[in-house]
Amino acid sequence: MKAISIGLLGLGTVGTGVVKIIESHQDKLMHQIGCPVSIKKILVKSLSKERQVPVDSSLLTERVEDIVEDPEIDVVIEVMGGVDETRSLLLTALQNKKHIVTANKDLMALYGPELLSTATENGCDLFYEASVAGGIPILRGLVDGLASDRITKMMGIVNGTTNFILTKMSKNGSAYEDVLKQAQELGYAEADPTSDVSGMDAARKMAILATLGFSMTIDLDDVKVHGITEISKDDLEYSKKLGYTMKLIGIASREGEKVEVSVQPTLLPETHPLASVNDEYNAVYVYGEAVGETMFYGPGAGSLPTATAVVSDLVGVIKNMRLGVNGRSTVAPQYPKSLKAPED
Ligand code: NDP
Ligand code: HSE
Repeated sequence: MKAISIGLLGLGTVGTGVVKIIESHQDKLMHQIGCPVSIKKILVKSLSKERQVPVDSSLLTERVEDIVEDPEIDVVIEVMGGVDETRSLLLTALQNKKHIVTANKDLMALYGPELLSTATENGCDLFYEASVAGGIPILRGLVDGLASDRITKMMGIVNGTTNFILTKMSKNGSAYEDVLKQAQELGYAEADPTSDVSGMDAARKMAILATLGFSMTIDLDDVKVHGITEISKDDLEYSKKLGYTMKLIGIASREGEKVEVSVQPTLLPETHPLASVNDEYNAVYVYGEAVGETMFYGPGAGSLPTATAVVSDLVGVIKNMRLGVNGRSTVAPQYPKSLKAPED
C-alpha cells in the first residue's frame, strides 16, 4: 500500500523525537495503520545547523511552500512553535486539504476554534494531544474516555519546566538560574522560557483542558495567572520545615454556569499525591459527576514522551483517512457559555 507522506515543520526537541519514533517504530505503525509512513520534507530555520538525529540533508528545507503547497504531502506535523506565522501556515495547509498534528498550545489556546473549524470545513483532521501534558494522553482521556460524563473540576501540574525547577530548588537547594538552564538544556523549556516561569504556558494548557472538559470556549484572558518567578529558595525551605511542598497548580472548576480557571504556586501538604510529582512529570486530577476522581500522570515534557503523543495523533489521523471520516471526530462539541445544548 502507498506510504503516507508527512511534511514535518520543525526539527528541534520534539521534531527530533518524531523522526526517531517514525523510524524506529515502523513495525508498530504498520501494524496499526497497514501502510508505511515516510517523511518527505522537514522545515527548519537554518539548513547549516548540526542535527541531533541523522537525516538525509535533501529532506531539509527553509521554504514553507515545499510542504504546505506540495500535493503529495498528506499530513503536516507542526512542531516548530510560534503563533502568527504558524497560524497562517496551518490555515494554508488545511485549505490545501492536509491533515494537521500539532504540539502547539500557544496556537491552540488562542486560535483553536478557528483552526478546528477550518479543518472541518476542509474535511481535514487537526489533532493536538501533545499540546497539553506532553506524553500523557489527557485530551483523549477527556474527549473519548470520559465522553459520557460531566466534568466538574480539573486540577494539577501541567508545566514540566517549573515542576523541574521547584523540585530541584527544594530537594537539592539548587539556584533558580542554574536549574532553569538545565531545563532548557534538557529540552523541557519553551524557546522563550518566560512563558513557562510566568505561568502562561500552564494557563494555555488549562484553557485547552477547560474548553474540552467543560465543552465551552474558555478565553485565555479569563484565566488568572501567577508564575514562580517570585518564589525563593528560602520560601521552599520554610515550606518544607512546615511539612508543605510548593507546586505550580492549575485549577479549572465549574459550578452551574460559573467557570473559574487559574494557575498559581500552591502549598500542598507533603502527603498530598501531587506533592510527590517531581521533575518534569505532570499529573492532573479530573473529577466527573459519575466517574468521581481520576488521575492522569506521566512525563509532561521532553523529546520522546512528547513525540509519542504526536505520532499517536498521526496514527489517529491515518486511521480516519482510511475510514474516510476525517474532520468529524476531532472537535469536541462546543456549547455556548450558557451551557444549553444546541438545538438540532
Ligand atoms: P525547538 O525550539 O527545540 O524546535 C523548533 C524547531 O522549529 C527547530 O528545528 C527550528 O529550526 C524550527 N523553527 C522554528 N521557527 C521556525 C521558522 N520560523 N521557520 C522554520 N523553522 C522554524 O522547539 P520544541 O521542539 O521544544 O517545541 C516545538 C513545539 O512543541 C512548540 O510549540 C512547543 O510549545 C511544543 N511542545 C514542546 C514540548 C517540549 O518538551 N519541548 C512538549 C510539548 C509541546 P532550527 O532547528 O533550524 O532552529
Ligand atoms: N515547556 C513545556 C513544559 C513543554 O515545560 O511543560 C511541554 O508542554
